[in-house]
Amino acid sequence: PIDLRDVARTTATQPALDLTIRPRRNRKAEWARRLVRENVLTTDDLIWPLFVVQGDRTRSTVASMPGVERLSVDEIVRDAERAAKLDIPCIALFPYTEPSLRDEHGSEACNPDNLVCQAVRAIKQEFPDIGVLCDVALDPFTSHGHDGLIKDGRILNDETVAVLVRQALVQAEAGCDIIAPSDMMDGRVGAIRQALDQAGFLDVQIMAYAAKYASAFYGPFRDAIGSAKTLTGDKRTYQMDSANTDEALREVELDIAEGADMVMVKPGMPYLDVVRRVKDTFSMPTFAYQVSGEYAMIAAAANNGWIDGDRAMMESLLAFKRAGADGVLTYFAPQAAERLRQQHR
Ligand code: PBG
Repeated sequence: PIDLRDVARTTATQPALDLTIRPRRNRKAEWARRLVRENVLTTDDLIWPLFVVQGDRTRSTVASMPGVERLSVDEIVRDAERAAKLDIPCIALFPYTEPSLRDEHGSEACNPDNLVCQAVRAIKQEFPDIGVLCDVALDPFTSHGHDGLIKDGRILNDETVAVLVRQALVQAEAGCDIIAPSDMMDGRVGAIRQALDQAGFLDVQIMAYAAKYASAFYGPFRDAIGSAKTLTGDKRTYQMDSANTDEALREVELDIAEGADMVMVKPGMPYLDVVRRVKDTFSMPTFAYQVSGEYAMIAAAANNGWIDGDRAMMESLLAFKRAGADGVLTYFAPQAAERLRQQHR
């Protein structure tokens, strides 16, 4: 070997280091990197969350989520069409409920003609082959912005579950394919499964927000559904403490025992360790939600020219696959699908 201080004198036959193993060999060209690539992101991995708002031909911007809009029912059908054309398998619906329709009990959640139900029916009529997921929780409908009913400042569990069951039923009735309880009440998955089965909705799947943390990263979402200003206090008595992972496994175990077909970890990027443990422990279809705040961080930095937004988006989505996720709920879904399509040309 040649003296490392004399780089000019090194040659292929006389390398400076006497190495048998050189991991860089497998990275020498794009074809070689493709050959040994361990994880891939495909369009099949994407679920696209959309916000519904009252009105006609209305698209209103969400300030804290650049590029994301609230859509009236007719417009959401157009985005469903975009998803179908891009081969995105599933979209998720979240309503912005008019303040006049919000009350203490979140009654509008159980209105069979609420915005979400209208959107499901409209989408299913035109694009029956795209999967539609509906969130089950009361926060878009309550005047106080909490996911459940409140009495004496406490979020009631069992009473809330009774309402969530009715909410899930009106969504299934409207034609929703996947019911996704995001409320974190105890026992809701079992109660919803039982009610769906009794009503004959044997094929309606449940994707449980099984390990959902009380997170600062939901801020822009609350802006989008209009609950940011009304929310009193925080959600720490029902959403999980960020410090815990054993607890996440217990939550997931319960939801599976109660009948969840798929489980979810939320938020995504800061909780990839949880995704990995859940996948390894239960071998269930496991999803991660790249939430609004994660989207906002990447979008804001990209818009400032501080990072390459497209590359950061693809890298972040691939990270979920590496952590063991089978799919990702992400506001980047259409951009990512477009980018994947270009890569295949
Ligand atoms: C409702 C719900 C929330 C999100 C999904 N469903 C907000 C919350 O729990 O406060 C957050 C999604 C996001 O931030 O993108 N329970």
